[in-house]
Amino acid sequence: MTQTLNVALGARTYPIHIGSGLLSDAGLILPSLKQKRAVVVTNTTVAPLYLDVLRATLEVGGVDVLPVVLPDGEQFKTWETLNLIFDALLGANCERSTPLIALGGGVIGDMGGFAAACYQRGMPFIQVPTTLLAQVDSSVGGKTAINHPLGKNMIGAFYQPKLVVADLATLDTLPDRELRAGVAEVIKYGLIRDPEFFDWIEANIDRLLAREKDALAYAVARSCANKAEVVAADERESGERALLNLGHTFGHAIETGLGYGNWLHGEAVAAGTVIAAELSVRLGWLAAGTLHRIERIFDHAGLPVIAPRLGTARYMDLMSHDKKVQDGKLRLVLLKQLGQAVVSDVADESMIGAAIDARCT
Ligand code: NAD
Ligand code: GLY
Repeated sequence: MTQTLNVALGARTYPIHIGSGLLSDAGLILPSLKQKRAVVVTNTTVAPLYLDVLRATLEVGGVDVLPVVLPDGEQFKTWETLNLIFDALLGANCERSTPLIALGGGVIGDMGGFAAACYQRGMPFIQVPTTLLAQVDSSVGGKTAINHPLGKNMIGAFYQPKLVVADLATLDTLPDRELRAGVAEVIKYGLIRDPEFFDWIEANIDRLLAREKDALAYAVARSCANKAEVVAADERESGERALLNLGHTFGHAIETGLGYGNWLHGEAVAAGTVIAAELSVRLGWLAAGTLHRIERIFDHAGLPVIAPRLGTARYMDLMSHDKKVQDGKLRLVLLKQLGQAVVSDVADESMIGAAIDARCT
């Protein structure tokens, strides 16, 4: 069964289709293609698995595919790799109306989207996410970016896709570690705004990790429903959307500090969320029992609950580049209770260091 949700953005409203076998469903993608050719940006891992299936589907409608196969990994989310996409687009005389389809995880989606936003000032963009993380989070909402050595996702653009096609069958080939990293972002929605979903995740975590299709379908759809609501209300993150960054300020510091690709994004978010929860307890906002519940669910999902010891000063330095910093003041997503997150500065910054210290190896 295919589920379809919408991201409501007025004239730019777009559907998210979720189901098994959707890569072969010509009726989903073909109607949104305005040319008889399409660029498919993917990587060396995903191309051998899914490029031919997608190509065959597009060829049913007479659409020729120009594949752009990038090196695989967070460490390649750079200007240099982005330029490979532009080289291919220009080399093939792609036009402003040529559609670009991102086939892969969040790295491909973020880079493909940024390339689509920039090339001739914007070409049609379609997300075909193939990791759990990309299906529940990064393919929805229009954030696109590359990393900078000094900070994660620092160079980018808001650029919404025309369509998201999440084929749950692609998750069959996802390595376990990558599946668990995606679960971190699923848990995030429960923590920030959907406590009933958090209860459901606790009750169904083993089914998710065992890749039971109905559990995955439910988790992807409920995550996307949460994300679609937030994005519709605050597309450019002037308020509520920042809550989607629970654990990310600490997490991005971990990813940048350790070198991109060493810890997976979802792993860093899990450990970063535990620090945010620890700080929330220290501020007297969150019950200690809730912190333990959060630790338990991440631990059960095989995600790290202890962050690497980079040194408090290094954490603070890395976090000074965070996109939520305002007038030089760090602002963090913290928890008031399970299902209620807030963005706040912390008057006594030494408390941030203490929370980091308490949650590092
Ligand atoms: P990823 O894109 O690196 O994919 C993880 C790994 O799985 C890669 O090796 C990839 O090649 C492989 N892979 C992808 N699909 C596969 C499949 N079906 N079978 C087997 N292997 C497969 O990582 P990710 O976790 O998908 O995404 C993380 C990125 O997303 C980070 O760069 C993060 O910053 C970004 N992100 C963006 C947003 C956003 O809103 N734009 C939100 C969250 C995360
Ligand atoms: N993943 C954070 C956001 O989309 O805002």
